[in-house]
Amino acid sequence: MSTDSLVLVANRLPWLRGPDGGWRSSPGGLIGALHPIAHRRPTTWVGLSAAADGVTIHGDDSSGDGQQQDPWPCACGCVEVRVHSEAAESHYNGVCNAALWPTYHDAVIPSEYSGENWSSHEIVTRAFADAVASHAAPGAVVWIHDYQLQLLPKPLRQQRPDLAIGFFLHIPFPPPEIFMRLPWRQAIVDGLRHAHVIGFQTAQCLGNFRRVLSMTADADLPWSPELQPRLVVAPVSIDTARLAAAAGAQSTVFAAQQLRKQLGDPKVLLLGVDRLDYTKGLVQKVRAVQSLLADGSVDSSQVIFLQIASSTRVGNVMYRQEAERMSRAFGAAIGATSTAAHTPIRLITQAIESDSLTHYFAAADAILVTPLRDGMNLVAKEYVTVKSGLRNAGQLHAGALVLSEFAGAAYDLIDAYLVNPYSIDTLREGMMHAVHDPLIERQRRLDSLAATVANHTTFDWADGFLATLSKAAQRQVIELRPRARRVA
Ligand code: G6P
Repeated sequence: MSTDSLVLVANRLPWLRGPDGGWRSSPGGLIGALHPIAHRRPTTWVGLSAAADGVTIHGDDSSGDGQQQDPWPCACGCVEVRVHSEAAESHYNGVCNAALWPTYHDAVIPSEYSGENWSSHEIVTRAFADAVASHAAPGAVVWIHDYQLQLLPKPLRQQRPDLAIGFFLHIPFPPPEIFMRLPWRQAIVDGLRHAHVIGFQTAQCLGNFRRVLSMTADADLPWSPELQPRLVVAPVSIDTARLAAAAGAQSTVFAAQQLRKQLGDPKVLLLGVDRLDYTKGLVQKVRAVQSLLADGSVDSSQVIFLQIASSTRVGNVMYRQEAERMSRAFGAAIGATSTAAHTPIRLITQAIESDSLTHYFAAADAILVTPLRDGMNLVAKEYVTVKSGLRNAGQLHAGALVLSEFAGAAYDLIDAYLVNPYSIDTLREGMMHAVHDPLIERQRRLDSLAATVANHTTFDWADGFLATLSKAAQRQVIELRPRARRVA
């Protein structure tokens, strides 16, 4: 098995063209976690390229796939999977975002299951299989990422049985009671079980998948010795050393001071950083902040709550509706809490580049990470790393993390102020602690959180997963090879 040749496969390539025509990093935690891995070893990244709104544009060019080296500002080789724009649209908006995403996030909103879109999903999967099969070196390690590509292990293994195939799910795997609603549940389980290793963010997700496996193991998905994937819990993480170093730089300290100054030097700066997604609990969050300001639990003249909610998946009607719902909730909250002299609630919907986000993290006294459901949430890990990096550089900053108990990150970050985002009372309580707890208590929690994150970086995540994958793939080759007859 060739271990130095890694193929990462994700729905998106790591860079996309922004509205101004320039290159920028693709959105989402997946990209942030994988980027450092791709920089560290020879890697080929296979994915769709996308416009800023997430819809692939190739006009009528549905032929082949293109090896892209140059305009991509990426340390790895990028292979662009080419599919017709209509197939890409139905795959991305119709199946991934309208069916799988809501189902996997505990059906926070209803899903739409369309057979026509599913055919496009299969077409896109085959295009991915062809692209990986024709670019992967013999015996290469192929690591497939996320819910958009769950069918891929099967056609890939059929075309290239020599590959070691791993799959990692970045989002939650739902309880069987919800998963079984999917009309394509068997195809999904069958696709996944062709991987040698399947990774999940939490033990709960792995347990859910195990129950689904046993429920679908009937005549349609017969047991086979070759199709016994290893299931592992492997929480995704971040490049803590790089981020902590960036946080401690003088330029970051200066930029954070400038930001606070631009915001009118509030005594307390509360921050939120999310994609504008209905799973993120943005409406509940702003209502909780509004109620704290309204009843004087926190002094509205001394506080700013700044929410960055970057627009995302705007081709999908649910996201457009969520954007409207959020605008209304923020509009009402801003109207109800502002005076002529002071606006304590602020909203930014533009995407902010990751370097600038570091400045926002550095400036904020607390971050409110309160999704209704989330696979992991790397913003929580980034924030505590930045604040601790500042502290190690001699800056006397405390930082508090208010974290939803329904984010995968809550499994490990137990020293956060954990809240139930569906309950305005516990949201309020968590925020009150983050603002009013004694400095020494906030620092103790921050140190413990930052140590937990630093103990398991994105490199530990990838190394652990890939080591398990190499072993599992090798073991299967050995087990399937006929045993030599013993000569008496
Ligand atoms: C989450 C998903 C990723 C996805 C990202 C951005 O992090 O787990 O797979 O890429 O959101 O979503 P988008 O639809 O814009 O790719």
